[in-house]
Amino acid sequence: MSSSEQTLSIIKPDAVERNLVEEIKNIFKKNNLIIKESKKIQITKEEAADFYRVHQSKPFYDELCSYLSSGPIVVMILQGENAVIQNRELMGATNPKDAKENTIRKLYGISIDKNSVHGSDSNENAKKEIEFFFKN
Ligand code: CMP
Repeated sequence: MSSSEQTLSIIKPDAVERNLVEEIKNIFKKNNLIIKESKKIQITKEEAADFYRVHQSKPFYDELCSYLSSGPIVVMILQGENAVIQNRELMGATNPKDAKENTIRKLYGISIDKNSVHGSDSNENAKKEIEFFFKN
């Protein structure tokens, strides 16, 4: 199996708002993830609901969709060896309180909602999430 993979990363509104985009991108670059594509966009709540539909039964779904659509985000395709796992290790645990030292969420996350970044959790979802934001 080829070890060079692609994954989707999102820098969420809390981090874009605090001008952390370049700092976060530098963490990816320093850790052998190439940023193949990157764009700053703002999505609608309906688009956020579509993106996060795997969470539709969760109690936090509505708030999650409102939040992701509340301001500009940066969506990126990251590429490198074991990119899915590598990105998840760099991000750290979902809740910044539980994240290991020097992970992105530990360094910059504010709360479980405002946790600064999203990353695909599997190769299958990476393909779907890349397709969602980079269709053409
Ligand atoms: P993310 O990796 O983008 O995937 C779904 C998001 O839901 C997650 O990061 C969190 O920001 C958010 N979220 C809010 N509440 C919870 C919760 N209780 N458990 C997991 N994720 C949560």
